[in-house]
Amino acid sequence: MHFAHNLFVIALLSAIHAQAHHEPKTDHEIEVQRALQVAACHCAPAVESFTASRKRAWAQRVLAGNPHLVDQQHLFSSDAYADLPDSHHSEHSSSPHENEDETFMKCTPISDTHIQNNTCVLAPEVTEGPYYHTEGHPIRQNIAEYQDGLLLLLDIGVIDVETCQPLPNVLVDIWQANATGSYAGHPVPHPHLADEQPATEGRRRGLLTAFPRTIQEETWLRGAWPTDKNGVVQFTSIYPGYYTGRATHIHTKVFPEWTPLPNNEGFQAGRLAHTGQWFFDEELNMVVDKMYPYITNPIKDIRGRTRNSQDSLNIFQDSHGPEGKYNPVFKTHLLGGVVSQGLIAYITMGVNASASYDNFWKG
Ligand SMILES: *[C@@H]1O[C@H](CO)[C@@H](O)[C@H](O)[C@H]1NC(C)=O
Ligand SMILES: *[C@@H]1O[C@H](CO)[C@@H](O)[C@H](O)[C@H]1NC(C)=O
Ligand SMILES: *[C@@H]1O[C@H](CO)[C@@H](O)[C@H](O)[C@H]1NC(C)=O
Repeated sequence: MHFAHNLFVIALLSAIHAQAHHEPKTDHEIEVQRALQVAACHCAPAVESFTASRKRAWAQRVLAGNPHLVDQQHLFSSDAYADLPDSHHSEHSSSPHENEDETFMKCTPISDTHIQNNTCVLAPEVTEGPYYHTEGHPIRQNIAEYQDGLLLLLDIGVIDVETCQPLPNVLVDIWQANATGSYAGHPVPHPHLADEQPATEGRRRGLLTAFPRTIQEETWLRGAWPTDKNGVVQFTSIYPGYYTGRATHIHTKVFPEWTPLPNNEGFQAGRLAHTGQWFFDEELNMVVDKMYPYITNPIKDIRGRTRNSQDSLNIFQDSHGPEGKYNPVFKTHLLGGVVSQGLIAYITMGVNASASYDNFWKG
């Protein structure tokens, strides 16, 4: 899978796009982000070895010994990252232009990481959007329920930017659309907006009014799980579908403090340390577009999928941070021999574990 070149082109395009359409934020907001970004830069090497050891552990388990689709329990067993602490082999690594898959198969140390050397690791704060509620987010790792789609395993690392150390025992809450672009609990527009067209100008250009929450009991594609002792959390899900105006994405919040509710009905949220969104490589989105059931998306022939560079509210652009030094796009690998067997997606977030946000970029 060689998406790196496209990523570069997209990064360029989005940089241009960001300059052309950047929405002004308050000086205070920009200053907070900038201070965090400066503090985060020094963590880049720590993140590199963190991600590299996760990938190597996975490669050893899955590809070297067992080149067919793995039992998911393998991936999720707690000793999967047993070699994490003593894994500082990145100086022996090959150049990023070498055949990545070949390097993978040989199980040589991999320095390939989502957070590049010149990339600071603080995950920018971007909007939680209109489809969040802590009710209906059970504490669980498999969030798919009976939603059909392309198997997607998420491997999410969390680093504390104040210490550059992995952050154990913080609750990573995620939610996403299903394969045809719907959120659990929000099936249809307000009746009086059934024929609404996307806004053609202004801040909400490209977007429809948010669909209301009308089905309280739905919980699919929503869930939260704490990071393990290595600061890693894994989820089983499906690749998200698209909806009007938004690039394909997955939402996240990170809570250092929370209280589980009885009967696994979710949790009572405590302090919020991070709100963000993750994206996929455009080339991969195009492959998934053609697969069932993604190809049945109701807006396929009307408006189609919004490209990352065209994302509404500048969310994709803003997710790169005020200086474009964070990469919010998952690094992905095939789980089997062909894409329809599923994907594993990696990302590492740098968060400020002692921060306390009130979602001030809501909207
Ligand atoms: C990472 O970037 C810094 C600053 O640009 C540079 O001094 C350092 O040599 C780089 N490290 C590697 C491993 O490329
Ligand atoms: C996604 O959810 C909507 C709303 O519940 C549903 O109508 C649709 O069939 C779902 N998509 C798939 C692929 O199951
Ligand atoms: C993290 O958050 C705390 C509490 O708000 C703040 O005092 C500290 O400066 C922040 N750290 C960074 C690196 O921004």
